[in-house]
Order: sequence, then C-alpha cells, then structure tokens
Amino acid sequence: MAIWKAVKKLNSLGYVIESERGKGYRLLSEPNVPHPWRVARNLKTKVIGSFIIFIDEVPSTQDLIKNVKGEGSVLFANRQRKGRGRLGRSWFSTEKDLKLSILLKPSKVPPSNMGFISLIAGLAVCRAIGGRLKWPNDVLLDGKKVAGILVEGEAQQDRLEKVYVGIGINVNSTRGLERFEATSLKLHTSKETDLAELAANVLNHFEPLYFRLLEGKTPLDEVKEVMDTIGRKVRVVSFGEAFGGVAKDVDESGSLLVELNGSLKRVSVGDVVHLRG
Ligand code: BTN
Repeated sequence: MAIWKAVKKLNSLGYVIESERGKGYRLLSEPNVPHPWRVARNLKTKVIGSFIIFIDEVPSTQDLIKNVKGEGSVLFANRQRKGRGRLGRSWFSTEKDLKLSILLKPSKVPPSNMGFISLIAGLAVCRAIGGRLKWPNDVLLDGKKVAGILVEGEAQQDRLEKVYVGIGINVNSTRGLERFEATSLKLHTSKETDLAELAANVLNHFEPLYFRLLEGKTPLDEVKEVMDTIGRKVRVVSFGEAFGGVAKDVDESGSLLVELNGSLKRVSVGDVVHLRG
C-alpha cells in the first residue's frame, strides 16, 4: 500500500512507472524537471548542493533562498513569477528553463570581492554550456544572451555574511526570446537538454572555483579566457553615466578597466554593450 501511494505520487509528478503483479515496478521515464534527487545523482560536489530544495512556483528563488540556513543549499523552482535580473530588471523564464539560487556564506571573502563571485558563477555556466562571457556575467552563445546571473549579499562590516547567487539559463524555451535579443540552448543546439543534468554540471564547475576564492585566490586568468568583452569597443552605462571606450582588462575585484581618452576608467557596476569593430 505504501509503495503504491509513492508510485501514485511519482505519477503525479510526471514519472511513468510500469507495474506488474507479483513482479514489482519499473521506471519507464522521468519528467525533465530538476527534482532534487535527479540533480543530486549527477553531483560531484562536497558543499554546493548538500541541501537541495525544489518548489513548484515561486515569486523569485532569490527571495526564498534567504529563508534557508545551510551553506551550499540550492533552491530550484519550476515556475518563477517575478524573476529578478540585474539593475532592477525583471527576468523572464518558463518551466523549460533553469532558475536556481545558491546560498553561500563566504565569511573569509572581503566584500570587495563580491563582484568576483558573480564572475565565477558566469565562468561555471560558460564551462557547462560552452558559452562566452559579456562583462560582468551575461553568458552568450553566438553573441546572444543565454544566461544571466544575479548576485546579492548581506555584509557585516568587512565580512560577507551571506551571498545569494541566482542563475537563470534559457534552456529548452524556444519562444518569446527574440524580443530580448536572447537565445536558448534549444535554439542553439536544436536538442532538448536535461535540466537536472545541466544544473549538476553548473554546480560541479562552480564549487572548485568557489573553493579557490575561499582560499584567497581569484581565478582571474580563467575568467579572462571566456570573457569576450576584453579588447572590444564597448558602450558602458554605470550609475546613470554612459560612455564609450575600449575594454582593456578585468582586475582582481572583478571590475572592468575601460580606456577612455588615453586613461583607464574602473567600472565596478554597470552594463556594457559590445560595439562592432
Ligand atoms: C540578469 O541577467 O540580469 C540576471 C538574471 C538572473 C535570473 C535568475 S533566475 C534564478 C534567480 N532568481 C531570480 O529572481 N533571478 C535569478
């Protein structure tokens, strides 16, 4: 009776299970949903993903992760009604996409390095899907945005108490992306991607980079390798000010160094547009 009830529950979640009298049950197919047990079986991490939560519908995973305690906890949502993007923008996604937030407690990382946490999250996504970065952390495929990262934090004096890393990846959606000049993995590869496998892949790439940050090392060279912005003409919008220049480098704090009229300007917060030429 207990097994039958569990099977019914799994059926309602989209798992197809065959039963044969006197023989038992057989799992025929699974839904393409990042259920915690589906993510966990592909994880090779020690801390990230040690506690995984899945909620069917949320306003934003970034808000709910704030109620979670353990370092490395990851919260997934099937649907996100009020997804948030950087700089007060909203984030559009469907059930076919990945929406997750990670809770970090990097008390040894100075608040000035918070920008670097978002860069390594971008690097982890790039490694998982073969993308490139547009500073600070837009992940691009063929020059179009496929994923975004929102890092929010709570600092106490000179310590980062809690950091919430929100990752949104356009995975199997194919509609409605043109109006954002965005793309998805499905549009790019013409293949369906398993959300749980992809999520585990991102987390597997993220953890070693995060551990290095905790040891006081910033994997700057690796970030630069996937950063398309360096060496390009860019238009920068930062704190309401807009200017054009050439992106020369990214420094240890994750800021972009832009050459403007012969001198270097350090941009810590803002947006860039890659210009042609
Ligand atoms: C951006 O490119 O502006 C950042 C987008 C970040 C979206 C993700 S989806 C999961 C998490 N929850 C949110 O509300 N936002 C982030």
